[in-house]
Amino acid sequence: MGTEAPDEQKFGYVHHLQLDKLLSVMRPVTAHPEEHLFVTVHHVLELWFKHLIFDLERIIALLEADDLAQANWLLRRIGEILKLAEAHWTVLETMSAADFAEFRGELTGASGMQSRQFRQVEVMIGLHQTAGEAYVARTENLWPGLIGEHPVTLRDAFFAVFARHGLTLRDVYRDRWRQHDLFQLAENAFEIDRRFQSWRHNHILMVRRQIGIRARGTGGTFFRDYLATTTGYYFFPELFEFRNELTEMAGGEVMKPGSP
Ligand code: HEM
Repeated sequence: MGTEAPDEQKFGYVHHLQLDKLLSVMRPVTAHPEEHLFVTVHHVLELWFKHLIFDLERIIALLEADDLAQANWLLRRIGEILKLAEAHWTVLETMSAADFAEFRGELTGASGMQSRQFRQVEVMIGLHQTAGEAYVARTENLWPGLIGEHPVTLRDAFFAVFARHGLTLRDVYRDRWRQHDLFQLAENAFEIDRRFQSWRHNHILMVRRQIGIRARGTGGTFFRDYLATTTGYYFFPELFEFRNELTEMAGGEVMKPGSP
């Protein structure tokens, strides 16, 4: 009796959410009780990556159709999800470094850097267009064809909207209450970068706590050679650079680009 599938009428919740499948994927590979949390946090983040991919596809299509109101509504959600994603690091930090040291050796080369969905989120927003050749080569090497699957990125769709409206960032920020949709679009895009940076920095703080700054990751890299370089990645560097222009326009002193 106990092994029969639950009655669909009585357990619509279980059927709709496919809980039997979802909850059956927890298969710890070690005997350590703290591995349960480690796996749960990875699973939850992968579910959010999946949803980000789903919404990003919709947002790019909405921007291409010039539906700024709906695109902005969904973009705000992306920011909220990224904020939530970051909150997982402090939960994971309740697993002590001593506990993690006891089982990480058994994880046989598994590392978040192998997450295809994480890389897909970055590529859909357009990181390969700003992060440089090393990023492109690494992505192509691990996930051949992934970049080609996304011929129009969020970056492309974003700048195409500004071009279609014949407005620059400067025009939009100056006239922000009349150009409110475009102003909000730029602020929402900035927020994605802002949140991603925060996610990366807090992942690094968590890594420092759990394995130490000089330890080699399970993916085979040292902090200095890999994670440290990712903090320089921006999806919309133009929106960050533009802040200097705003300060300068208002009479503030700004160093020339490339100044030490
Ligand atoms: C104790 C927990 C964790 C530690 C010590 C840790 C450590 C590391 C290290 C050292 C790297 C660099 C690659 C390597 O050599 O492995 C890395 C990359 C990465 N980790 Fe974690 N990680 C942890 C948890 C997580 C979780 C829960 C996720 C969620 C999916 C995650 C996602 C990632 C991603 C996406 C990268 C690649 C980052 C990039 O390419 O910008 N990590 N991690």
